[in-house]
Amino acid sequence: MTSYDTILVETRGRVGWITLNRPDALNALNTQVMTDVVAAASAFDADEAIGAIVLTGSERAFAAGADIKEMESKSGLDVLMGDHFGGWAQFAAVRTPVIAAVSGYALGGGCELAMMCDIIIAADTAKFGQPEINLGVIPGMGGSQRLLRAVGYYKAADLILTGRMMDAAEAERSGLVSRVVPAAELLAEAGKTAETIAAKSLPSVYAAKAALDAAMETTLAEGLRFERHVFASLFDTSDQKEGMSAFREKRSPDFTNR
Ligand code: CAA
Repeated sequence: MTSYDTILVETRGRVGWITLNRPDALNALNTQVMTDVVAAASAFDADEAIGAIVLTGSERAFAAGADIKEMESKSGLDVLMGDHFGGWAQFAAVRTPVIAAVSGYALGGGCELAMMCDIIIAADTAKFGQPEINLGVIPGMGGSQRLLRAVGYYKAADLILTGRMMDAAEAERSGLVSRVVPAAELLAEAGKTAETIAAKSLPSVYAAKAALDAAMETTLAEGLRFERHVFASLFDTSDQKEGMSAFREKRSPDFTNR
């Protein structure tokens, strides 16, 4: 398996694990982290043997944001022409479901990275926020758009305009977090959830993720049209026949991803 400078990568069964690994910088997301995460996630995404990905950090920090020291001296033109953060769009576009397992700080780009994932499982120690306003800027990796869709205008405005942090309980109440678990159980819970997804038929998992994406990105009418067509297309898979006959025969399905 390829080795990377800023992340650890591992495969466990049908689950690909990516662990952010810049402990001295609380996993701040510099360009190398972006390059490494995108490469690892794309490799898992291209591998049919992988049915789900877990993205995690350390106990102290999922990620404390984009790397401020790397950005500090850039001009607007540098950021624009270098398409700073542009690579993250490739991570957000992987078809394989990604579970963010968040412990400690998920701030700025860290919160935005979690929001590029499909399920966010938080340790009870997690803290979320978009503190960019304290630095004289605003969220730049999707925070003003994805946070608003996740928690609504008023909570998003509260967080983005004040720069304050919210704890895991508030994040779950607000709809940002899928589940909160005791810190000691975080990785086991994320792993179990990933295994559950990875045991499904991959074409239906890809389709479900694409339909959820459509709901985020389009109107209700277009989303419903998209769902109807994708739903129909799944009836041409062997796994649909297998899933439904297994139900009728009262046994577990044996999916082949075809
Ligand atoms: N960029 C670069 N380095 C960072 C960093 C970041 N975002 N966050 C933490 N670090 C570094 C610190 O500089 C420090 O390094 P040194 O020991 O070399 O000084 C090390 O990580 C440990 O951090 P602290 O000593 O600050 O740890 P703490 O426990 O006292 O505080 C913290 C933790 C509250 C998270 C604090 O580190 C902090 O406020 N970090 C910055 C959070 C932030 O503003 N994030 C948004 C970044 S901008 C962004 O993300 C833009 C975007 O939309 C994409």
